[in-house]
Amino acid sequence: LIEDIIAREILDSRGNPTVEAEVLLSDGSRGRAAVPSGASTGSREALELRDQDPNRFGGKGVRKVIEHIEEEIAPNLIDLDASAQKMIDDTLLGLDGTNNKSRLGANALLAVSLACARAAAESKDLPLYAYLGGPAASRLPVPCLNVLNGGVHAHWQGADFQETMLVPFGADSFREAIRWGAEVYHALQSLLLEKHLSVGVGDEGGFAPAVRSNHETLDLLLAAIEKAGFVPGKDCGIAIDPASSEFYRDGKYQLHTEERAIGSEEMIEYYAKLVDDYPIVLLEDGLAEDDWESWKQLNARLGSRIELVGDDIFCTNPEIIARGIRDDIANSVLIKLNQIGTVSETFAAARLAQFHGWGAFVSHRSGETTDDFIADLTVALDTGHLKSGAPCRGERVAKYNQLLRIEEELGTAATYAGAQAFVRPAT
Ligand code: PGA
Ligand code: ZN
Repeated sequence: LIEDIIAREILDSRGNPTVEAEVLLSDGSRGRAAVPSGASTGSREALELRDQDPNRFGGKGVRKVIEHIEEEIAPNLIDLDASAQKMIDDTLLGLDGTNNKSRLGANALLAVSLACARAAAESKDLPLYAYLGGPAASRLPVPCLNVLNGGVHAHWQGADFQETMLVPFGADSFREAIRWGAEVYHALQSLLLEKHLSVGVGDEGGFAPAVRSNHETLDLLLAAIEKAGFVPGKDCGIAIDPASSEFYRDGKYQLHTEERAIGSEEMIEYYAKLVDDYPIVLLEDGLAEDDWESWKQLNARLGSRIELVGDDIFCTNPEIIARGIRDDIANSVLIKLNQIGTVSETFAAARLAQFHGWGAFVSHRSGETTDDFIADLTVALDTGHLKSGAPCRGERVAKYNQLLRIEEELGTAATYAGAQAFVRPAT
């Protein structure tokens, strides 16, 4: 039973404050969890509450959230069974009482929801992935490594596309996939040095060179894959998250690097050409969250060839995902805990997608902590793939390193998702 809940203000990877909660159970078990924060957020995400006090952290303090946890949430959860996750989460939703978690803050709810799950797992003496996913949870995901950062994650100093990810689907194990990822990352670094391009990294640990087109970014990654000794399309593929809501203005997609603005139809053809020319296996947020009708066309054009993931457009929200399935606008959903705010709703979102044959792609946020909850979550949900940035920066590798531990612990029971991880298998 829950005995106490405390919370504190800590820093995230961008130096902004965020919330960490600790749940203490009567049997002495503990769970601690921290909440991440996005930069290219969807407008329908659950609300991240900030103090708005200009004298602290530029208004981004989370003291009110701490107060909500300790003074309002804690007294209502004490003596409840931490392993009754749905009941805990429903209690949190009831306490908040709003549609978008704006009263107590999604960051308050999520910190407690995650910490409860951890405490309950410890109490049952189970690893978190097994507690959440049951005894069958044993498939390790393909890591999609964001080795080239652009867009808002690189303050528009690099590519228009926010994320260009390396996908080592051809490896035999997660451990091997991570080694391939690190080797390609270093090959990319030496290529950039040769070309006198910057090797400074963006928010998710990928390089952020000042390229002149989005093709240049893809060419760089292709060359790095080959330089590291791998075969593009056979060993490694490419995934992209343009995060296009960020450069959609007045009904047009504004490609800064190419100094032109194009309409939705042209944007779809732009992607179709990229899919013809490069070993792209997954496209996330190819179109903007306000461009729902064009998403249908994008799915009709490319949905049979690659995985089309909706992030900003779905916000891990089961209601919006259900509409997306009905309208056939994509074939996969990005899963971000803090977009929706509780463990139970996150599970509902992923299960809804999977039930309909859609993919579920677990994701970190650009503002992260070293909390590695999503590593266990990915194995528990059996999503087969996740993204947690480049093999660089502690808060990014924390998730990959936890997956290495999970693979080791599972031993011969562990499998690697490989090419089959994708809605449209990579090869
Ligand atoms: P964010 O970026 O965390 O800044 O929203 C991640 C993404 O768009 O997938
Ligand atoms: Zn995204």
